[in-house]
Amino acid sequence: MRFQNKVAMITGAAVGIGRAVALQIAEQGGKVLLADTNREKLEQVLEEIGAENGLACVCDVSDREAVENCVRNGIERFGKIDILVNNAAVWRCWSSFQETPAEDWERFIDINVMGVVYCTKAVLDPMIERGWGRIINIGSVAGVYGNANMVHYSATKGAVIAMTRALAKEVADKGVLVNCVSPGSVSPSENPDIDSYVSSQLSFMNRTGTDRENANLICFLASDEASYISGQNIQIDGCRRKQ
Ligand SMILES: NC(=O)c1ccc[n+]([C@@H]2O[C@H](COP(=O)([O-])OP(=O)(O)OC[C@H]3O[C@@H](n4cnc5c(N)ncnc54)[C@H](O)[C@@H]3O)[C@@H](O)[C@H]2O)c1
Repeated sequence: MRFQNKVAMITGAAVGIGRAVALQIAEQGGKVLLADTNREKLEQVLEEIGAENGLACVCDVSDREAVENCVRNGIERFGKIDILVNNAAVWRCWSSFQETPAEDWERFIDINVMGVVYCTKAVLDPMIERGWGRIINIGSVAGVYGNANMVHYSATKGAVIAMTRALAKEVADKGVLVNCVSPGSVSPSENPDIDSYVSSQLSFMNRTGTDRENANLICFLASDEASYISGQNIQIDGCRRKQ
């Protein structure tokens, strides 16, 4: 079992890619700390996984104290956190730069950037002490190419990609590997079928990616098999038509 004796914290675990990662890690022997603001969906995921394999934590990642409490509860229950998947984000926003108020910028930065900072800070020291850790940040192709009418979202994902590359260099010799996975278009996360996709002209494969396809890459990077990969941003986008 790939994740036997491993504990993973997954943010935004209630739906979509985060849920698919949680299901796969638990299926492969790991324990999971599930963090999300959506209590109802989070509890459904815990039920799917089995309460003995996970802990659901209602937590807003932009609230530093809430993140620290969540990590404390996870460590109390499972003893450690080996893997952090920084997946929680807000992204459904379509407005021109001029029409996007500064408050929206602040909210996106608080959740998409500071959320990653708070979660990473809360788990990093013990990973370094144990000499083993995996941090997988979820970026976006928007952070690489930039999406019109999503300037603030694109900027936050660009920050996540840059943070990944920089932090990886600080901790590479300490056994902690930091990578970023940047999806293109993924099937709507409201759909609980992790293998579902819809057609999309944004990729040369003419379809969106599935939650499982994203989870497969994230879980590979979280595993022992990915022991010589760090500081990378890996796009999973079905061969995107660059925009
Ligand atoms: N779906 C896509 O097409 C797509 C494309 C590129 C990148 N991504 C990235 O993939 C990741 C997952 O996206 P998705 O579409 O699977 O899920 P989603 O956007 O539907 O859900 C994200 C989850 O994060 C939770 N969340 C939101 N704000 C939070 C907060 N402040 N604290 C804690 N939890 C919070 C939500 O409740 C939700 O359960 C995100 O980082 C997103 O930016 C998604």
